[in-house]
Amino acid sequence: MAEPTNDHQHMAVDPDWDNEPDDDSAISEPITSTTSISASILEYRKLHGRTYQNFNTGTEYCHHMLFLAMDNKLFMAPIGENPQRVLDVPANCKFELDDAQLVWPYPDNHFDYVHIRCLMGSIRDWPALYREVFRCLKPGGWFEHQDYSIDVRADDGSVPKGSPLDGWGALFQEAGERMGRTFKIIEDGRNIAWFKDTGFENIENDMFKLPVGGWPADPKWKEIGQYNLAITSDSLEGYILFLLTKVMGWEYDEVQIYIAKTRKTLHDKSMHSFFDVGTVWGQKPVSTNEEEEVELAIAS
Ligand SMILES: C[S@@+](CC[C@H](N)C(=O)[O-])C[C@H]1O[C@@H](n2cnc3c(N)ncnc32)[C@H](O)[C@@H]1O
Repeated sequence: MAEPTNDHQHMAVDPDWDNEPDDDSAISEPITSTTSISASILEYRKLHGRTYQNFNTGTEYCHHMLFLAMDNKLFMAPIGENPQRVLDVPANCKFELDDAQLVWPYPDNHFDYVHIRCLMGSIRDWPALYREVFRCLKPGGWFEHQDYSIDVRADDGSVPKGSPLDGWGALFQEAGERMGRTFKIIEDGRNIAWFKDTGFENIENDMFKLPVGGWPADPKWKEIGQYNLAITSDSLEGYILFLLTKVMGWEYDEVQIYIAKTRKTLHDKSMHSFFDVGTVWGQKPVSTNEEEEVELAIAS
């Protein structure tokens, strides 16, 4: 299996974090309490000139958080200054709503760049999706896929043993396998292998740790961790309810207790946890074998 690179990002713990009061963070409250979060969000809106009619949704916060994590970049692939046809990246885009798992309504060799992000637990057949991307990309076009690992990890072993977060990754992964929609995307370089198997070239990858909570000493990662804690805490019920009741067969009340315990652990300041985020990008070969064969036949 392909090995991910850049997996050694060191993230020092803020030594004062354990002693800070719970309300120290501008964004440590649930996202719905908009009173405490306006400053950095408005800064973001101003920076990018985009108008969000309904900014306080998890997806938009998540976008902002990943944007900060990537040092204000939207993507990693070297797509040049002027790609003409791009799928899934603002700005100047139009949104189309399609099931990405069906045959795409686009001709072969159509896009300069295709970007997929955070679809773990949504796709039945990832290699088939990659093949559709490959078909629809122009020769020389780029594909980029960013996804999370659902495992909550800590380098210092601070995820409390036996806590809901300790078992969180395994629970989601089991639910994903039962649904036939895996959450294992970046684990063991699976997505890098999919890129290779599909025929992409010039494949590169990047991994970073997305802290949960404001525990990092570095101000950039502290802010990102605060967003992540707010997003994760606020979205818990949305993430979990369907999976645990419909897929894993838990009772509603049981799930509510699990959510309450998980939320409490998320705010445990002795924990220095993170999710891994992995990005892979690769290029459709400029000339495919078929084209080479035709060229050879013409030349001979
Ligand atoms: C976690 S959100 C990520 C949104 C966005 N890609 C981003 O990174 O900001 C997951 C999104 O995947 C969409 N989704 C889930 N299954 C899909 C499918 N089969 N085809 C297309 N979109 C899908 C959902 O509607 C939801 O908007």
